[in-house]
Amino acid sequence: MQFTRKDILDTASLSAEEIIMILDTAEGMKGISQRAVKKVPTLRGQTVVLFFYEPSTRTRTSFDIAAKRLSADSISISASASSLVKGESLIDTARNLEAMNADIIVMRHSSSGAPHLLASRLKASVINAGDGTHAHPSQALLDMMTVRQKKGSFEGLRIAIIGDISHSRVARSNIAGFGKMGAHVTVAGPPTMIPKGIESLGCRVSHHMDGAIEDADVIMMLRIQKERQKGFLFPTEREYASVYGLNRKRLKKAKKDALILHPGPINRGVEISPDVADSPRSLILDQVNNGVAVRMALLYLVTGGGQNADTD
Ligand code: CP
Repeated sequence: MQFTRKDILDTASLSAEEIIMILDTAEGMKGISQRAVKKVPTLRGQTVVLFFYEPSTRTRTSFDIAAKRLSADSISISASASSLVKGESLIDTARNLEAMNADIIVMRHSSSGAPHLLASRLKASVINAGDGTHAHPSQALLDMMTVRQKKGSFEGLRIAIIGDISHSRVARSNIAGFGKMGAHVTVAGPPTMIPKGIESLGCRVSHHMDGAIEDADVIMMLRIQKERQKGFLFPTEREYASVYGLNRKRLKKAKKDALILHPGPINRGVEISPDVADSPRSLILDQVNNGVAVRMALLYLVTGGGQNADTD
């Protein structure tokens, strides 16, 4: 199969075959990061612009590392240090970057749909690094990679996603991605953090955390996104932690081999207790490690998917 997509905008538009191809390619990329010289010439001569309108630690750094491991030139710009502050529009900014022969633009934006707008106007590839509450495809793909490494496949797996579903692009991308691969997704959280109609994306809804996690193969905890909430949607963080937080006591109600994931950044003591976050059952740093490989795979695939590529 040849990967023919110019852009990676969400998981909902990827086929199951494309998702498998991305994950298989990412597994192939992992070895490069374990070498003494962590670099291959695959994307030599390509220019990757990391265009982040919102803060990021994991996504921005891992796309940067991924580009460098493949020998691309990567340039990072933030909204506050660009001419956006002088009133230049998003499209004009992007067209100027393209005029400088940028090949791939990796973009994070607070507005849902911003990367789609860019992708429709530019010849350069666009990779969505998180847009508003809509999608975060590279995060879902690295989550899927982490789960597949431990469980072997997705068919029939039960995935519980717990927390602030309303504001979570990670939840939406994982519902679409895992659902496409035959897993069953349940989202759980306080009614104020579950959007009406989320079932139409292909998930079940629960407001009871214990019920949601008891038969789960994967428990994915989410951060409360206070920066996107108009007011706090739960009385206090302490109460939230006691009702919807994952701690050692609550974990006893889950299956012994249930995997614990969190996209980060974590709020220790709120949605996850420090001992659970740091326990051997937590795959949080495996997710981060796989993030570099998934982002190497995405950069590689959107630039031709292996045609004339050199990954040795
Ligand atoms: N998971 C994630 O998107 O983390 P950052 O916001 O640090 O990129």
